[in-house]
Amino acid sequence: MYDDYKKLLEDLKSHSHFRSLKDFESKDEKYIYYKGKKLLNLSSNNYLNFADNKKITEEFLEYANGEYSFGSASSRLLTGTLPVYDELENLLSNLYNKDVTLLFNSGYHANVGISSALNQKGDVIFSDKLNHASIIDGMRLSEGKFFRFPHNDMEALEKLLIRERENYKNAFIITESVFSMDGDIENLEKIVELKKKYNCYMIIDEAHAFGVFGEKGLGVAESLGIIDDIDLIVGTFGKSVGSMGAFAVGSRILIDFLINKARSFIFSTALPPINIAFSKWIIENKFPKTIEKRKRMLSIAKKMGSQSQIIPVVIGDNKDTVDLCDILFHNGYFTLPIRPPTVPVGTSRIRLSLTCDIEENELSLLMEKINESLLVKQAK
Ligand SMILES: Cc1ncc(COP(=O)(O)O)c(C=O)c1O
Repeated sequence: MYDDYKKLLEDLKSHSHFRSLKDFESKDEKYIYYKGKKLLNLSSNNYLNFADNKKITEEFLEYANGEYSFGSASSRLLTGTLPVYDELENLLSNLYNKDVTLLFNSGYHANVGISSALNQKGDVIFSDKLNHASIIDGMRLSEGKFFRFPHNDMEALEKLLIRERENYKNAFIITESVFSMDGDIENLEKIVELKKKYNCYMIIDEAHAFGVFGEKGLGVAESLGIIDDIDLIVGTFGKSVGSMGAFAVGSRILIDFLINKARSFIFSTALPPINIAFSKWIIENKFPKTIEKRKRMLSIAKKMGSQSQIIPVVIGDNKDTVDLCDILFHNGYFTLPIRPPTVPVGTSRIRLSLTCDIEENELSLLMEKINESLLVKQAK
């Protein structure tokens, strides 16, 4: 009865594509404990070190003082909206200086809900080829059409707009700002120009930039001064905030539309109040104190050739990538092999993601080890 699935799993194994869960012993700020070893964690999205941080957890619980529960027991549209949800939404609307914010249960919920709801029959989405799976899934669920343009290729995007825009009613250009697997940044200023020229809505996903870029930590749009030009900005709380959940901030009309039509928002229990309170507490009280650390992290990344705190080390072959992670493990570093379908075939890689307390010399030693291992491999 299980033959088809068994065969599929065997295929995955034979191509080094098989994924399995790992049992970590514990995590403590920039370190992770695995198979009896203390390892420098280069595989988390805990960019500001607020997750897995005992001091932060204790400080927050003292502040919360038993006020917030661990379950909302209802979707937002039923009985799931308590004052703390409005407070977090208002905080974000004020920070971005936009009409309204809507919280989602995760970045996945946000992107799936937004693309599937907004892109109606007769509409179209133009999406960067490397956009996150949640954006792709949202487009697939939508009733509208979608086109994917080559990654960050503005000429190709414009050609597509010239060819296709007039065939559709509403059009959306959707992109990440900082790309999760490549760490590079989309040419958002050019997209603003194109969206105006071709009358499109612009939606950006700042999942990896929220908390890292911009003086207030609002993302790349803040650092470029183009927040007002973007119709919907998505950010997540599972990365820099060290929490869980996501938000979309934009105009009253678009947000009201999402409240009424985004199925991932409507048909899911709201996040626990304690979690919402934690996200709010971090953004309000801790983000402003991280400016220097964030800048330092980005300047270290820049020296290593990356535009963001995410540094891809592309190896190519699946097995070589897995082997390199193993070597790094034995040298005190926790890295993960990123393989297709997460990245295109032939571009398997180690994705180094920095967190703000990692020292430059820790990374130099790591890069030495990587280069040494690659040379040994070439020599064989
Ligand atoms: C660009 C991007 N958007 C959205 C998500 C999904 O966010 P979440 O983990 O909150 O579901 C991720 C990764 O998790 C991401 O990298």
